[in-house]
Amino acid sequence: MGPVRRICCIGAGYVGGPTCSVIAQMCPEITVTVVDINEERIQAWNSEQLPIFEPGLQEVVEAQRGVNLFFSTDIDQAVREADIIFISVNTPTKTFGLGKGRAADLKYIEACARRIAQVATGYKIVVEKSTVPVRAAESIQRIFSANTKSNLSFQVLSNPEFLAEGTAISDLKNPDRVLIGGDETPEGQRAIETLSSIYMRWVPQTRIITTNTWSSELSKLAANAFLAQRISSINSISALCEVTGADVEEVAHAIGTDQRIGNRFLKASVGFGGSCFQKDVLNLVYLCEALNLPEVARYWQQVIEINEYQRRRFAPRIVSCLFNTVTDKKIALLGFAFKKDTGDTRESSSIYISKYLMDEGAHLHIYDPKVKKEQIVQDLSHSTASAEEPERGLSLVSIASDPYEACDNAHAIVICTEWDIFKELDYERIYQAMLKPAFIFDGRRILDSLHGRLQQLGFQVETIGKRISQRIPFAASTIAQLNLQAPPLKKLKL
Ligand code: UDX
Ligand code: UDX
Repeated sequence: MGPVRRICCIGAGYVGGPTCSVIAQMCPEITVTVVDINEERIQAWNSEQLPIFEPGLQEVVEAQRGVNLFFSTDIDQAVREADIIFISVNTPTKTFGLGKGRAADLKYIEACARRIAQVATGYKIVVEKSTVPVRAAESIQRIFSANTKSNLSFQVLSNPEFLAEGTAISDLKNPDRVLIGGDETPEGQRAIETLSSIYMRWVPQTRIITTNTWSSELSKLAANAFLAQRISSINSISALCEVTGADVEEVAHAIGTDQRIGNRFLKASVGFGGSCFQKDVLNLVYLCEALNLPEVARYWQQVIEINEYQRRRFAPRIVSCLFNTVTDKKIALLGFAFKKDTGDTRESSSIYISKYLMDEGAHLHIYDPKVKKEQIVQDLSHSTASAEEPERGLSLVSIASDPYEACDNAHAIVICTEWDIFKELDYERIYQAMLKPAFIFDGRRILDSLHGRLQQLGFQVETIGKRISQRIPFAASTIAQLNLQAPPLKKLKL
């Protein structure tokens, strides 16, 4: 294969869009075409209003679009012309059939493989970028082999993407590592070299890891599982902190200074969200079960269960503090995205908390700086409240255009996303405009440095992993009385 001139990426989502924009910026002599079946999404990529918000993305797209970066719905042409084809389509959790609720649905990957086999000619390197179960590359390979034409040859590589939303551009420009897995044959190794040569334009060679295909596929699942596990670990400790008087931030700092543990990803929260963690851990669990490793499956399943527990116990705490009822009370919910610096709400804990509060009859006034109103309405349109009383459900939700409007006349503020602007609000003004007693529930520990001041203003502050209003004295007798087995909380109806 000569030098790579054209790259095509199928799937213009959170992964495909930013990844290809950065490749286009770093490799000006390569033409990069991102294709998608979703016409509206492609139109948005070609407009001023990109379909996703990601710091730094707009600048990269504006610099490269129409130069060597193109967004199109003509999948066949882009596939035909490309030397390298990335597959970045989504791999959602199956919603029906075998493995329902856990296994990854590979129907989009398979559809792409079939399409490539049908329209491509010559030599192609097909790169699996989407997160897939181990041995998915084998399935792609088999589809190609079964549909081989005399004028088509290919190599399948695994090159999982490790970018996190909100920091995608800097993660892509300065990755901890790039992982490329391929066949251990000379052809496989040559394909690995070709793909490595693209990344080597801006990533030091020492950070490019090459493995066999299965190791690469499994490493992506394992990396997400380890990250999710750290959050569940610290969240489990946060529950213990709330009943003992310990402060989870202090504990996280104390254990994080041990270099073997490290201080990142130890932030207690309302539970992790996002399109990947839950899906990939469930996928791992399913894989272990299917491969007859029930102990390993149970171990990873617990990561999900703690996350559900963390979500489940936050909302009832709000109800309990608000004198056991939120019916017809106005609650300001600040932050709807699954983390700051993104407009993405997939699996956001805010959705779970909102639905619980809606079921209890609360009026939610939601503010998020980047999530669109239609998205919030769509995410909340299937609440149990709306199922039981269809007219009531969404009538309980208002979308505020600024945080002050959301908090005006509210009984409580619930912070669900750690947006920096929430640290800089004029809380005196907010307090004046709220009903009293005025509560703040900080689900992200972003107001720690303001607790003294907030309490001085008159706020009742409640936060994850720390008991602020009343501290249980640390005494052996108190600890003995705690029922550590059963959290006395109603399970979320979703
Ligand atoms: C990511 C990762 O790629 C994947 O590894 C992970 O498992 C889930 O999240 P993401 O980019 O976030 O995917 O997904 P999404 O934003 O949904 O984008 C996928 C795109 O693929 C969509 O725009 C969809 O229209 C497109 N698509 C899907 C196709 O173009 N063809 C298909 O056959 C299916
Ligand atoms: C994750 C992985 O980090 C990334 O490598 C992979 O490619 C895709 O999945 P993403 O889901 O975009 O990325 O964001 P991430 O920063 O990992 O956060 C996931 C969730 O965990 C968010 O809801 C975040 O708020 C939460 N989180 C993260 C915590 O609750 N505490 C932490 O300490 C870190």
